[in-house]
Amino acid sequence: MNIFTERESEIRAYARTYPVIFDKASNARQTDEDGKEYIDFFAGAGVLNFGHNNQRMMQAVIEYMQSGGVLHSLDMHTTAKREFMEAFTRTILEPRHMTHRMQFMGPTGTNAVEAALKLARRVTGRREVVAFTRGFHGMTLGALACTANQVFRNAAGVPLDNVIRMPFGCEVPCQGCELGCGLASLEELEARYEDLSSGVLPPAAFLVETIQAEGGVNVASAEWLKKLEQIARKTGALLIVDDIQVGCGRTGTYFSFDDMDIDPDIVCLAKGIGGLGTPMAMNLVKPEHDQHWNPGEHTGTFRGQNLSFVAGREALRYFEDDALMQEVRLKARQIMEVLKPLEQHAGVQVRGKGMIVGLDVGESARAKAIVDDCFARGLLIASCGTGGRVLKVIPPLTIPGDDLEQGLKILVDSTEKAMAEAA
Ligand SMILES: Cc1ncc(COP(=O)(O)O)c(C=O)c1O
Repeated sequence: MNIFTERESEIRAYARTYPVIFDKASNARQTDEDGKEYIDFFAGAGVLNFGHNNQRMMQAVIEYMQSGGVLHSLDMHTTAKREFMEAFTRTILEPRHMTHRMQFMGPTGTNAVEAALKLARRVTGRREVVAFTRGFHGMTLGALACTANQVFRNAAGVPLDNVIRMPFGCEVPCQGCELGCGLASLEELEARYEDLSSGVLPPAAFLVETIQAEGGVNVASAEWLKKLEQIARKTGALLIVDDIQVGCGRTGTYFSFDDMDIDPDIVCLAKGIGGLGTPMAMNLVKPEHDQHWNPGEHTGTFRGQNLSFVAGREALRYFEDDALMQEVRLKARQIMEVLKPLEQHAGVQVRGKGMIVGLDVGESARAKAIVDDCFARGLLIASCGTGGRVLKVIPPLTIPGDDLEQGLKILVDSTEKAMAEAA
């Protein structure tokens, strides 16, 4: 017995997958209390895009604290907040001609989604939101209603309503997916909105991930996203892109939709936006929608936290030139080149974009065996997708080449072993 088994809630999950006590971390490595090192292909589920304990960010945070900078300020103006907002405007918004306002809320992704849903309902005066099969948007009731996974939904204990579920539009049909690409169903939905006697009313918003991360690394096709945007425009609904896991450089561009020719009304960001793992969530909201908020209507004690602004501002320096994004594109190619040959095994599919790649091994038990074997060999990797049958490769974008190579080798060896045992 130890304090965790004795006193920590039964709810603990990753602590069971990796049953050691982690003590130290640096870039793409974590070390446990016994001194064993692990390569991290999980990166806090997309939080640690710039690695554990990023030196530049740590230095900035330490200097800020030592200088007596304000640590907590609710949503008051601070120097740290101004510097973050100015840098975000200059580095991310202006080059894209985005006029969006920045809204800060409680520092979790689910809080960003809640705020986006509230605002879309306020702006349109409508209740229902369209969300997609295999979508994941968080655990609080509004966001959970948009999350598809039954395990999470069953925990709610109350009805999760005001959401219509439509098939997601994958670029490449996922193996085992009986739902089709979703383009046809969008066209059908559009026809129903156009038919005034269909009894189907247009929604407040379409809430979508361009790449469903928790849902199994399903990449939306550009054509499907474009169609979704068209329907949103025609029906007066808002297009909300949840870029919480795959934004902040993950796909080789700052936003996951940068090459998709869409113009979301609201973009939800969290996880990596705080740079160092210091929590922050932020919605980018078009000004014409933002004006529907009254002051203080969606609060949160930790909305805009100064250490996150300081670290987050440092993170933005990575986007002042193309060096990191070029590196991401090269590493992304390397990951695909190493993993794609595993598709020679029946029941294996590799899919992804940038540095988020899913290795779908078809069965949850097989995926679990691979996660456990990788862990024993010193690689942290997590599973996702229906029943957890997809291994999600989502290392820090800053992972050194040697660690990436070594981690991929462990993953391939463990997968080969599991496939041989299955044969
Ligand atoms: C796409 C997406 N949206 C929302 C969330 C919820 O974020 P949080 O766990 O910080 O509430 C997640 C978390 O994994 C996510 O991946």
